[in-house]
Amino acid sequence: GAGEMKDGATGGPPKWTRPAPSLPTDASLYAGPFPFYRRPSELGCFSLDSERRYHGDSRALRYFAPPPAHGSAPDFDLREGYPERYRPRDEETQEGLDHLLRWLLEHRGQLEGGPGWLAGAVVTWRGHLTKLLTTPYELREGWQLAASRLQGTLYLSEVETPAARAQRLAHPPFLRELMYMGYKFEQYMCADTPGGSPDPSGEVNTNVAFCSVLRSQLGTHPLLFSGEVDCTDPKAPSTQPPACYVELKTSKEMHSPGQWRSFYRHKLLKWWAQSFLPGVPRVVAGFRDPEGSVRSLRTFPTMEMFELIRADREGWNPSVCMNFCAAFLSFAQSTVTQDDPRLVHLFSWEPGGPVTVSIHHDAPYAFLPTWYVDAVTQ
Ligand code: A3P
Ligand code: MG
Ligand code: MG
Repeated sequence: GAGEMKDGATGGPPKWTRPAPSLPTDASLYAGPFPFYRRPSELGCFSLDSERRYHGDSRALRYFAPPPAHGSAPDFDLREGYPERYRPRDEETQEGLDHLLRWLLEHRGQLEGGPGWLAGAVVTWRGHLTKLLTTPYELREGWQLAASRLQGTLYLSEVETPAARAQRLAHPPFLRELMYMGYKFEQYMCADTPGGSPDPSGEVNTNVAFCSVLRSQLGTHPLLFSGEVDCTDPKAPSTQPPACYVELKTSKEMHSPGQWRSFYRHKLLKWWAQSFLPGVPRVVAGFRDPEGSVRSLRTFPTMEMFELIRADREGWNPSVCMNFCAAFLSFAQSTVTQDDPRLVHLFSWEPGGPVTVSIHHDAPYAFLPTWYVDAVTQ
């Protein structure tokens, strides 16, 4: 709220305390020119295997292998193999930034950008930045981001909100199956080798992931973030990552202009934010029928998505997303002034309100592991 008047218990004159800082999220405040965003470049990558073990290589990268463009329409049964061939990742294990920190520990000596680049950077997951980008338009789900500064660098790690946790634990079975279907689509569209053919007979193990580590800059904020990548296209015009990467998505088949409108307003915003950040140039969508079979494919070039919504007065605007994210990073940089890995500023947001801040020490919010802190401060 506004500045509160403190009645001095001593009976002295009232003292005005500083209002707690907060950041508004109204889209109308962030219109204006698109901010500077450096073309993302890949610094490296890592893989997580079927047991969620880290490997500092690209072994989990898969190869885009779509059905022939002029063949018959696809018919991918996304429910096939469920539930007997589903190995879902254990979501109780909160990994925080750990895998990314392991990569960083092994590569911080060879980072480009000159000495001190990392000290001025923000380090986080791409998915956390995606949530920031869509915040001015989000009406349903809030978020919490924990922030700590260590040797200059600002680290941001998401905390599952109590509401999100309750929702996850109460997941109805149909949602579990819907999640499986998204991953099953990847299995129909990807091969293990360049030029190979998809093999949908195996298990769907969501522990497995290929992660790209990227460098960019938003406004004045240097960024180092990692994001999971679905596949690379061996036939892409540019073989240089991230330009060769393809994001895969599924969605319900649409039949009316109203359904497309709603899809452009809501889902396409999330698809755009997720792929624009790491510079992934296209999203290939599979549209599923009511029985759960993908019956058509459509490619959405990331840089053309905004055209589909530009004329809609109730649509989204990429400038708003990026300006808000830049404003949040400035807010976080100026709020977290102490360099202390055990100190956490928790940024919390619920739809309809501003971003607020609370301060915590150590467990349960501190997220920089001692193996990382000790290694970089030794
Ligand atoms: P869809 O592509 O059909 O959404 P991603 O697309 O980011 O590579 O994620 C792959 C799949 O993971 C998604 O398929 C979906 O099934 C599941 N998934 C990802 N994020 C999710 C979320 N927040 N809630 C539920 N499922 C999610
Ligand atoms: Mg993915
Ligand atoms: Mg995907």
